[in-house]
Amino acid sequence: MHDESGRIEETRCLGENYYLLKVFAPQIAREAKPGNFVMLRVSPTWEPLLRRPFGILQSQPPHIWLYFQVKGRGTTLLKDRQAGDRLDILGPLGNAFPELPDQKILLIAGGRGIVPLFHYAKNYAARQPLLLLYGGRGAADLKLLAELDAMPLLEKYIFSEDGSCGEKGPLTEGLEKIVREQRPQATMACGPEAMLAALAGMLRAKKLDNYASLEAVMGCGFGVCHSCAVAAADGRYRKVCADGPVFPLEEIQWPI
Ligand SMILES: Cc1cc2nc3c(=O)[nH]c(=O)nc-3n(C[C@H](O)[C@H](O)[C@H](O)COP(=O)(O)OP(=O)(O)OC[C@H]3O[C@@H](n4cnc5c(N)ncnc54)[C@H](O)[C@@H]3O)c2cc1C
Ligand code: FES
Repeated sequence: MHDESGRIEETRCLGENYYLLKVFAPQIAREAKPGNFVMLRVSPTWEPLLRRPFGILQSQPPHIWLYFQVKGRGTTLLKDRQAGDRLDILGPLGNAFPELPDQKILLIAGGRGIVPLFHYAKNYAARQPLLLLYGGRGAADLKLLAELDAMPLLEKYIFSEDGSCGEKGPLTEGLEKIVREQRPQATMACGPEAMLAALAGMLRAKKLDNYASLEAVMGCGFGVCHSCAVAAADGRYRKVCADGPVFPLEEIQWPI
């Protein structure tokens, strides 16, 4: 883990409150793996006090790329940072999605949950068969399609709830058919909690290795403050920042 003073090299608005940041952060870029995250001090002042967690979209030393959706105070400040600004970054933090060489893997991304799976595909699509199931409320939530088209993915399945992009409906509607026809050996998912809970139910009976990257409100990002605790299936708690953010899907106690 490094506490690095990075430098923003590019801020790009992709439309509808989604932004891309290219950041010079050589120490973090060298070590970042798909699934790891960073804690950012979003403004040069102490307001807001707490850093905010973000996944790493891709890492090509000496740069990392971040992709974020404006939600509240912190991300509003972050979107206004300019090329040349220093950016205080802690990372890489948390664990990574497992490397499963030679396996056929289905990546499942809901909205901005594309971030760690984009990183996974970027690193591994050339060496093993990867499928992508990507969904959102509408086309506005499905950025990065052109960048995904440029990757050697085995197949891409796009869903939008309003039908403005790809097939109409939640991405879970495509799951059964894809698993039946493509027979992946593992799934890796990231997205809203309701989506992950639905996947946990649907994948329970299938003999696959299933992993999910979770989000939680975070204070420290490295295991000290307990603000990110989630209930596990064994009745204990896990810290999303230090035990995760990637967990075997069945390890978490999902709301019914
Ligand atoms: C490991 C991890 C990786 C993440 N990666 C990304 C990413 O790559 N891109 C991205 O856009 N966002 C990502 N997030 C979510 C991001 O951290 C929050 O959207 C951000 O912290 C909101 O800050 P804010 O100050 O703008 O919002 P706030 O003013 O703090 O809150 C605005 C609203 O967002 C909710 N919220 C705040 N934090 C979270 C959170 N962690 N999860 C869910 N809801 C939250 C609040 O409850 C509130 O309703 C990630 C979160 C985690 C834990
Ligand atoms: S964010 Fe502090 S323990 Fe996880």
